Amino acid sequence: MNILLIGSGGREHALAWALSASPLLRKLYCAPGNPGIEAVAECVAIAAMDFERLIAFAQEKTIDFVVVGPETPLVAGLADRFEAVGIKALGPNGAAAVLEGSKGFVKDLCAANDIPTASYGNFTDRAAAKAFAGTLGQRAVIKADGLAAGKGVVVSDDPATTVSVIDRMLAHPGDRIVVEETLEGEEASFFVLSDGTNVLPLAGAQDHKRAFDGDEGPNTGGMGAYSPAPVLTQDVVEKTMRRIVRPTIAAMAARGTPYIGVLFAGLMIKDGEPKLIEYNCRFGDPECQVLMMRLKSDLLTALLAARDGQIAHLDLRWRDDAALTVVMAAKGYPGDYGKGSEIRGLDAASRLEGVQIFHAGTARKDGKLIANGGRVLDVTAIAPTVAEAQARAYAAVDMIDWPEGFCRRDIGWRVVGR
Ligand code: AMP
Ligand code: GLY
Repeated sequence: MNILLIGSGGREHALAWALSASPLLRKLYCAPGNPGIEAVAECVAIAAMDFERLIAFAQEKTIDFVVVGPETPLVAGLADRFEAVGIKALGPNGAAAVLEGSKGFVKDLCAANDIPTASYGNFTDRAAAKAFAGTLGQRAVIKADGLAAGKGVVVSDDPATTVSVIDRMLAHPGDRIVVEETLEGEEASFFVLSDGTNVLPLAGAQDHKRAFDGDEGPNTGGMGAYSPAPVLTQDVVEKTMRRIVRPTIAAMAARGTPYIGVLFAGLMIKDGEPKLIEYNCRFGDPECQVLMMRLKSDLLTALLAARDGQIAHLDLRWRDDAALTVVMAAKGYPGDYGKGSEIRGLDAASRLEGVQIFHAGTARKDGKLIANGGRVLDVTAIAPTVAEAQARAYAAVDMIDWPEGFCRRDIGWRVVGR
């Protein structure tokens, strides 16, 4: 099969790496890709939001199946556009990607189906939002409705902040927000694959959202992750499937917008009870990198089965080993950072046992590898335990010569410290 993968981050490098090993594959293309992806796919310089050129390219190259990595093109309906011209595509169509595209929609779906989540209200009116926030006590979470790359959520610890955030997020006519209760517990990312009717659990992971060691500093897209996540016990997974994921897939099918693709449930777990924080309509980044290290079965077969309504009999195998990834970011991220600094030493670092280095934000210039984004490299390792995977990943990090970069030194602390 000819496959086109859409995206350019570390998640897409991990997907390309896994897809490139498929026995079903004839040719793998990636748009726009990155210098790491070039090792396993032919990269074409078409942006993920340039739908016209993507479709023309897919037709010219007789692409059989398109895999879309990021949420923005999915929410904008990229999968629908390919399907409309007779090219199979995964993930969800635009109508189903609303599970990530609208936080208010998800909260109403939870309420209608008794799915455990934080108590909430949807608001367009400031006074009503403030009055509801007042009933939640000192703390509240305020979320802008719509895609915001993680930046539209404020977890507020005091009423004065809550009021000013509500004023800011409801500044313009048409603005909508969700105000909700602050959940306590441990967060985890849980991934499933759905064909619209059936749901297959994939695996879980834990991300590290804050920029600095000890979970200090601003929120980021994710500074590192590991899988499996001990907090996702078999019992928690079973409850998550029964109370959260299956009712969601059933509700989406019942409203005529079946969800076909990878579904990422962001969970808060307290005393063995999972609650839904949010859904994403795609693999997590950097969670995907650790999942792909652990997946033994063929990824392409699984994704195609989801698109074709055939996952009921799919049996995916995972390595019992643990995988851990350390994100190396440009100094200044998630604020302003420089681009263009040279990165050296990747070849030697990637030769360490169990290590894979996924590129997230690199470019090639005059034969050199340079930093070209905020999150730049995902230094990933697999080993029998999280502690050993952590040791391997940091051994690789220490071989990389990039003075303009930084990383957290404590990825995996919840497990390694336990
Ligand atoms: P979201 O974009 O909804 O994932 O929110 C970003 C982050 O905000 C989550 O990963 C959580 O760390 C935090 N968060 C969101 N909603 C809540 C909540 N109701 N209670 C506690 N933390 C939350
Ligand atoms: N790592 C969290 C996300 O991909 O949204």
